[in-house]
Amino acid sequence: MEIIKVTNYEEMSKTAADYIITMVRQFPDATLGLATGGTPVGTYKRLIEDHQDNKTSYKKVTTFNLDEYIGLSGENPQSYRYFMDSVLFNHLDIQKVNTFIPNGTALDLEKECLNYENKLKNHGGIGLQILGIGNNGHIGFNEPGTAFSSNTHIVDLADSTIKANARYFNNIEEVPNQAITMGISTIMQCREILLLASGEAKADAIQQLLGKEVNEHFPASILRSHPNVKVIADEAALSASKVWA
Ligand code: PGA
Repeated sequence: MEIIKVTNYEEMSKTAADYIITMVRQFPDATLGLATGGTPVGTYKRLIEDHQDNKTSYKKVTTFNLDEYIGLSGENPQSYRYFMDSVLFNHLDIQKVNTFIPNGTALDLEKECLNYENKLKNHGGIGLQILGIGNNGHIGFNEPGTAFSSNTHIVDLADSTIKANARYFNNIEEVPNQAITMGISTIMQCREILLLASGEAKADAIQQLLGKEVNEHFPASILRSHPNVKVIADEAALSASKVWA
């Protein structure tokens, strides 16, 4: 695991965006794994700016998102489909049919999980996956205790995740308590991973990521055994990690 220490959120976003842009310019038909949440928004903003200024094209790019809430359709402003469309896809020349996000309103959710996993495999897997990290060590919506062998599956969200995500909803009761997420095994099959972290709120999680034994109680710890992970973290996120502070 390589640690890239940056000053702040802006620098984290720029570093991640530059990395993605270089990849897309080199491999115009790249397959990107994308994340939602507050962390990657600055990165996406820079991808849009670069697309407008430098014409980097996403016409042949395919994307797979990590997760989606169960029960929210893509028209719901709290859904991750809506988030990705409004924060990124609508502003690039990417073809929407090449942007994949699990369908949280599928009639047969188990089948949706299987289909998503197969679609990803048939597509040849993900070249570069962007990840955030939850305060409890979750990656995607893989909460503590998720089997490292898991593929795309249905999860019950941890109370801490529901609380953390309530800021996007009118009130906490509106936060769905289940989601579909790529599994840990799905994520580990990505050829390269960029994990982004900014702010003091992530300091404990980053400390555990860097210091903890690989353990299913802290899902992100599995990344220590992936051959190609870069952690782009700012000073505040690294403030509890002795070697890096
Ligand atoms: P955040 O979420 O980017 O909104 O902090 C990260 C996560 O929960 O994975």
